[in-house]
Amino acid sequence: MNLLVTGAAGFIGSHFVLRHVAKHPEDTIVVLDLLTYAADKSFLDPVADKMTFVEGDIADQTLVESLITNHAIDVIVNFAAESHVDNSISDATPFLHTNVIGTQALIEVVKAHPSVRFLHISTDEVYGDVGDNDPSCAVDAPLRPSSPYSASKAAAEMLVLAAIRTFAIDAAITRCTNNYGPHQANEKFIPTVIRNALAGEPVPVYGTGKNKRDWIYVGDHCDAIERILEVNWVTDQRRVWNIGIDHEYENLEVAKMILDILGKSHDLITFVEDRKGHDWRYAVDSSETRTLGWAPTVPFQEGLRETIAWYKQRYS
Ligand SMILES: NC(=O)c1ccc[n+]([C@@H]2O[C@H](COP(=O)([O-])OP(=O)(O)OC[C@H]3O[C@@H](n4cnc5c(N)ncnc54)[C@H](O)[C@@H]3O)[C@@H](O)[C@H]2O)c1
Repeated sequence: MNLLVTGAAGFIGSHFVLRHVAKHPEDTIVVLDLLTYAADKSFLDPVADKMTFVEGDIADQTLVESLITNHAIDVIVNFAAESHVDNSISDATPFLHTNVIGTQALIEVVKAHPSVRFLHISTDEVYGDVGDNDPSCAVDAPLRPSSPYSASKAAAEMLVLAAIRTFAIDAAITRCTNNYGPHQANEKFIPTVIRNALAGEPVPVYGTGKNKRDWIYVGDHCDAIERILEVNWVTDQRRVWNIGIDHEYENLEVAKMILDILGKSHDLITFVEDRKGHDWRYAVDSSETRTLGWAPTVPFQEGLRETIAWYKQRYS
């Protein structure tokens, strides 16, 4: 297979490429990444001689078109995104550019190359939040995004689904829950807790800290993507795949676990003004994805220890 992986100098995409090269060294991989503040190209150093790295924008249709043609690409996996909710609340413009216009540019290229498959990486945040006793969201649940970030991801999904219907592109969408692991940008919750705890600084927790997230280890997410890539989406007809592990923790619990592992006092926890529009809880029904033989393998405590060990090195 010849893959174009976008956004792979970021958190999840870098893990996907590292794991894919280890599993399928015969494949050709081209990475396209704009190298925004969230990127770190050095994450890909271990496979630098086994892939082609191109710095550029997914919204640059001419560039994407040339990569598809020059490298005889079979599959595009689109991780490229503006991904931090707080930034989208401050300014949604970059989110519209990359998440919406950028996705449409990829769709245009796929329309012109109908043999190219397109896996669009989305998020469970498109469903909006659910109450404590609500059932988990199946793939046909309504999309009710709460933040400019999740609204931009939902918009991108609508464009992908419309292109499947109107132009019969060979595409599918994944909606995963919150990822954690090495390589995540400093601004995100778990890296922030680790960094501040290591420095002995206040650990900020939004609101009451009772908001719940279903944390999945990034490698388990990447494994699910690999399984989904093996499906023939056209004959199978399932186009949207939920990925979650059904194991929720309150943000406050996560902060305490990290402090415990680091041997730091819970007194460092400082409650700060809640995020505007803060989603309470996400829950997805991943049963369809589990029919592919996929199941998460990394227990949260174990993944958290590995993550903390990685950030300890990074922040020391
Ligand atoms: N992190 C999570 O918990 C999570 C959960 C579910 C889904 N997702 C989705 O997974 C994908 C990857 O998320 P992440 O956490 O790795 O994000 P990230 O912010 O760590 O990385 C995003 C990458 O995209 C690149 N990028 C941004 N704009 C670009 C553009 N216009 N052209 C090319 N590259 C561009 C950045 O340079 C960066 O390397 C996103 O689509 C996100 O919505 C993330």
